[in-house]
Amino acid sequence: MNEMNQQQRMDAHNARMSEEIARPIAGYPVNMQVRPEVEGFYDEATATISYIVKDPTSNACAVIDSVMDIDYAAGRITFDHADMLIARIRERGLELQWIIETHAHADHLSAAPYIQQKLGGKIGIGENIRIVQEVFGKIFNEGTEFQRDGSQFDALFKDGDTYMIGNMQAFAMHTPGHTPACMTHVIGDAAFVGDTLFMPDGGSARADFPGGDAGMLYDSIMKVLSLPDEMRLFMCHDYKPGGREVKWETTVAEEKAHNIHVGGGRTREEFIKLRTERDKTLSMPTLIIPSIQVNIRAGRIPRDKDGNEMLKVPINKL
Ligand SMILES: [Fe+2]
Repeated sequence: MNEMNQQQRMDAHNARMSEEIARPIAGYPVNMQVRPEVEGFYDEATATISYIVKDPTSNACAVIDSVMDIDYAAGRITFDHADMLIARIRERGLELQWIIETHAHADHLSAAPYIQQKLGGKIGIGENIRIVQEVFGKIFNEGTEFQRDGSQFDALFKDGDTYMIGNMQAFAMHTPGHTPACMTHVIGDAAFVGDTLFMPDGGSARADFPGGDAGMLYDSIMKVLSLPDEMRLFMCHDYKPGGREVKWETTVAEEKAHNIHVGGGRTREEFIKLRTERDKTLSMPTLIIPSIQVNIRAGRIPRDKDGNEMLKVPINKL
């Protein structure tokens, strides 16, 4: 009888524990028990980090924020960085299921279609890419043949949408501010924050692109920092502040304590002031013109009326 009670107590305890594990945090299905294997690949030219994220219980993986190499002065593209990712995925015998863009980048071109052509997988981005397409469709005078409905992508994520990478459930968290389409992708105990945050000594990304907003960025950062303290955070960029070596991984606890823009309890107002003043001093990213044209097309280069791959330079529009 006592044994039965003991067993019942254990069952009740286990039920409570699994409820605890599955309990949504801030309304999202956080599951810190899943620990994906994460490999980062730094692109020196654009200070971007691309990731391969692998399910520890299967051979499934995802790629996050890939990079196409461009010599803009020469109008020449190559795929050395993407080829490195592809070689690594093949070498490990992985199945690529997703090619995720955290947002439409303004500083590098995505290699998503190139990787998809070689390895398969679905290309996904936040549904507000439609807003970005609308805004830049006008700036680049794209005409009616350029669809502004996100149909260039295989999947458009809404806030809280879940998807599977092998046996891992991932979810997208809408974190606008840097751009309207920014999503943080949370996969088990690893969150890919895009340009919502930089490493603690880097602070945060600019919020002055069309559709950007410093207040919104602050709110999104707070959303990321409401994730569990032990959540691993992976950056999209690292500019090696102070000349230190490159770093791309930190935690929620570290950012809360030490981030130079939001850490140590800086208020929303203080952040907006700091962010806005800093943004006024920044010049346009070197590759914004080619990046935007390619990235609003899910990484495809636009073509002229004769079918040649061709980029435009709008004058005095940015
Ligand atoms: Fe960005």
